[in-house]
Amino acid sequence: MLAFAYFITAFLFAYVSCHTCLIQDNRGDCASRGFETVPQDLPRNLTSLDLKRNLIGTISHGDFQFYGRLVILILDKNKISVLQANAFRGLKHLKHLSMAENRLDLNTSYVSEIFGPLKSLDRLYISRNMQVGTDLPVYYPFFGYFRKLTILEMDLARKPIWNKCGFSKLKQLRTLSFNFCFLDKMTNRTFAAMPPSIENVYFAGCKVRELAELNFLKPFHSLKILRLFKICMDIASALKIVYPFKKMQELNFTEVNPGYCDGLIRAPYAVIITADMTKYLRNICLRKLILIRNGIVDFKPNSLLSYTYPECFVTIIFSGDRFSITNGFKTVELTKLILQLSNLVTFNYSGILSISTDEMNSGLTVDTEYPENLDHLIAINRKLDVQITFPFPRSLKILVLSKFDGVQHVQGTTPHTIYFSNINYLRVLDLSYFKMKYFPNIVFNGTNFLEYVDLSGIDSTLYSGRNNIPLFKESKTLILKHARLDLTLSRGRKIFSLVPTVKRLDISYNHLWFLPNDAFNSNKNLRHLDMGFNLFSEVPIAVHTLKNLEILNLEHNNLQTINETFQQLFDLRNERIQASFQLKLSGNVFRCNCENSDFVLWISKTRIKLDKPARNYTCQLENGTYTNTQKAAENFHEFYGNCENEMWLRVGICLLVIFITFTTPIAVIVNFRWRIAYWVYRVFKRVVENDLRSKFKYDIYLSYSDDCFDWVKDVLIPKIENTWKMKMCIEDRDILAGIIRSDAISQSIHESKNILFIISKSFSEKTWGKFEIERAKYEKYTGHLQRIIVITRNVQVENFPMELDCILDDVFLVDWSDQEIENGWDKLRMALFSDFN
Ligand SMILES: *[C@@H]1O[C@H](CO)[C@@H](O)[C@H](O)[C@H]1NC(C)=O
Ligand SMILES: *[C@@H]1O[C@H](CO)[C@@H](O)[C@H](O)[C@H]1NC(C)=O
Ligand SMILES: *[C@@H]1O[C@H](CO)[C@@H](O)[C@H](O)[C@H]1NC(C)=O
Ligand SMILES: *[C@@H]1O[C@H](CO)[C@@H](O)[C@H](O)[C@H]1NC(C)=O
Ligand SMILES: *[C@@H]1O[C@H](CO)[C@@H](O)[C@H](O)[C@H]1NC(C)=O
Ligand SMILES: *[C@@H]1O[C@H](CO)[C@@H](O)[C@H](O)[C@H]1NC(C)=O
Ligand SMILES: *[C@@H]1O[C@H](CO)[C@@H](O)[C@H](O)[C@H]1NC(C)=O
Ligand SMILES: *[C@@H]1O[C@H](CO)[C@@H](O)[C@H](O)[C@H]1NC(C)=O
Ligand SMILES: *[C@@H]1O[C@H](CO)[C@@H](O)[C@H](O)[C@H]1NC(C)=O
Repeated sequence: MLAFAYFITAFLFAYVSCHTCLIQDNRGDCASRGFETVPQDLPRNLTSLDLKRNLIGTISHGDFQFYGRLVILILDKNKISVLQANAFRGLKHLKHLSMAENRLDLNTSYVSEIFGPLKSLDRLYISRNMQVGTDLPVYYPFFGYFRKLTILEMDLARKPIWNKCGFSKLKQLRTLSFNFCFLDKMTNRTFAAMPPSIENVYFAGCKVRELAELNFLKPFHSLKILRLFKICMDIASALKIVYPFKKMQELNFTEVNPGYCDGLIRAPYAVIITADMTKYLRNICLRKLILIRNGIVDFKPNSLLSYTYPECFVTIIFSGDRFSITNGFKTVELTKLILQLSNLVTFNYSGILSISTDEMNSGLTVDTEYPENLDHLIAINRKLDVQITFPFPRSLKILVLSKFDGVQHVQGTTPHTIYFSNINYLRVLDLSYFKMKYFPNIVFNGTNFLEYVDLSGIDSTLYSGRNNIPLFKESKTLILKHARLDLTLSRGRKIFSLVPTVKRLDISYNHLWFLPNDAFNSNKNLRHLDMGFNLFSEVPIAVHTLKNLEILNLEHNNLQTINETFQQLFDLRNERIQASFQLKLSGNVFRCNCENSDFVLWISKTRIKLDKPARNYTCQLENGTYTNTQKAAENFHEFYGNCENEMWLRVGICLLVIFITFTTPIAVIVNFRWRIAYWVYRVFKRVVENDLRSKFKYDIYLSYSDDCFDWVKDVLIPKIENTWKMKMCIEDRDILAGIIRSDAISQSIHESKNILFIISKSFSEKTWGKFEIERAKYEKYTGHLQRIIVITRNVQVENFPMELDCILDDVFLVDWSDQEIENGWDKLRMALFSDFN
């Protein structure tokens, strides 16, 4: 009864509290609480009030008169369409007012003098209110009270009238931003009334179909930053509006192209930049030039790479476009420009080699793109031994050359060696997804201080054989996503020893399911290791050697548990670094079965920092039901109470068998004692087996390579499935297309009682062969799989997969060459049924 009362109280309390705001340090957080009017019962001394995502439609007379200390007021994403006179009375300290994404009409909602009380306002955001454009003139409200306003963000109507807005009084206004823009003509009268103090002008979402007039932005005498974002207009026209400025901080054109007119991001029209288009841009002394996704496919001589004041540049970002900067005249122009960019710090040039996530994730299918026969390529390059020297702007610190076609065509051939000169300031080098078939020797002329290297998307086998990669020598951060490290490591090549100083290593997305135990032996400083999105089924032992590890990311792998060794290791590390060890495990499906009950307990208690603070990692119970580790721990006794019983049952059976084995001889005739004992043993075993059997979907998982397809189809399957009545899982037949391959294979092997490998000549080339062996080992080790049977078919010793070596004692080996037809069946039958009969 008491509990019931408590429950009711708690319920009522929860109900009431869902309308009340969170008040902390005089800040009121009332976001998303369903308010239809401004709440009047909050503390009077609030300095900040957040009312976004409520249902307020009207700000009434004096709604804020008691909150006179407010400095920040946020009313975004409500339904406000009416502001009554005196709505803002009393807010004389307010500095920041935000009413974006409401239904305020510039022409009618703002009654005169509405802004009168807001004497201290510094920032006003009233953008994203105007839902439809109109050809009628729109009279903007009077802003003249805001003597201190520095930032104004609003909508831009097609015919804005702001000569009565008092803009001339806004002496402090620096930033004018338009978000929701219906302007369709850029004329030299549009901004005639604007105060000259404005330095930053941002436009977003305009659709300008006519050519801009010269002097469009001229009223902004001191323009420093111009940003065009998602603007539907000709790039030629956009480049014209920078006239007549001579000195600017930043020019940022992101998605400026008529191809974006329908509002969705579609393929932009192809644009070729000519010298005429850049005639105004060229003469500006510009610190930051940013051109992103503008559909530029090429440029002509004396356009994009020629400037009157190249020494002004600090940052250049060309990204998401398709032009090359290295072919023909461009190489010459670029080299010339580089020598003049004496103050450049960041050069970020990324193309749009579209790399779909599919392509990245499927990984193993892109094999064909990567040259297997490297020696051949290297030999060709030796012959030519092309060297190029890449001069760096003297002060360059960050160089990004990513997502575009490689250097193979520079001067007609792949350079063998690239000398980077002047690299004393270079700290960041990002060559991710740079398509190349040969990884050039990069030699530094100068002292190497590189700290951050990103070679994601570049096949690591292209460089892993080398003894020394200067790029890696000093780097603290190395990113190697999508780098085919599985291939590199399976070929026994060392890679991490090339980066002895690394502190942060990212090897996610590499299809890794194993790491050599000594993989990290030379990486004593490693603190942050990211191995997410791989195929690990257990924490690699190599992690054990990392004495300084602080962050370990294992999300989206195939981990089923973390065994005691690692539980202790992580806890110990955590203690040593004052409880700041971080472990990321989401995206794994753990097994919360009896064997792993220690893991369930550990994960619920450990004090290390987990990526799910609720400790609710998905996991599967003994009977196949999915739950999470938090629930499993909560119901520990219910879920794991039976575990011990099961163990005792097994012990009991063993004892009984032993008992029978030893006692029956006394009771029965000596000749029969073995048979009786064996009979009893078999009956008990059957009972246990039957229980087990029900958990398996298949009797046999079959792994074979293409060269025995015919034999498998015509000989093996008919016999096993039709004659022996066993259910087989055959990759090409039973594993559905469309599911993530590795998961499907893991699942099928898990659901099979036995696994049968047919090792033939081409097995070692089989895409998933090694993975299947790895899974088989794992399942055998965890006690699910009963037998691993290996049939060798006409195979030479050297073609036998090495991966099977270490479990050779545990497999049934059947040598079955074409000559020995009868014997083969007998051996296979023995291997499959030996325990039963
Ligand atoms: C604000 O008012 C509340 C009560 O309304 C009071 O508890 C709190 O101490 C006040 N804070 C300050 C900083 O005056
Ligand atoms: C704005 O109001 C004026 C009169 O105050 C009117 O002439 C004009 O048509 C209105 N514009 C819109 C878009 O309603
Ligand atoms: C504005 O443009 C018109 C026509 O393009 C031109 O005649 C006029 O002189 C320009 N005015 C200014 C101030 O540039
Ligand atoms: C360029 O402008 C867009 C839109 O305002 C902004 O989101 C982006 O951060 C800017 N880019 C840089 C590099 O400043
Ligand atoms: C380079 O530009 C791309 C696209 O704008 C951006 O995603 C990336 O973070 C930039 N890289 C650096 C090092 O600034
Ligand atoms: C390295 O730089 C020095 C001076 O900066 C220069 O003399 C030398 O030729 C350069 N070496 C190469 C291989 O470019
Ligand atoms: C835990 O697993 C590792 C291999 O990942 C193994 O070396 C170690 O012996 C295991 N520890 C226990 C307690 O089973
Ligand atoms: C875990 O808990 C968090 C918040 O407590 C919740 O958002 C999330 O959906 C839960 N995940 C699972 C797998 O139960
Ligand atoms: C599996 O076991 C759990 C706990 O023992 C139980 O709650 C659940 O209903 C079972 N599911 C099935 C399908 O038997």
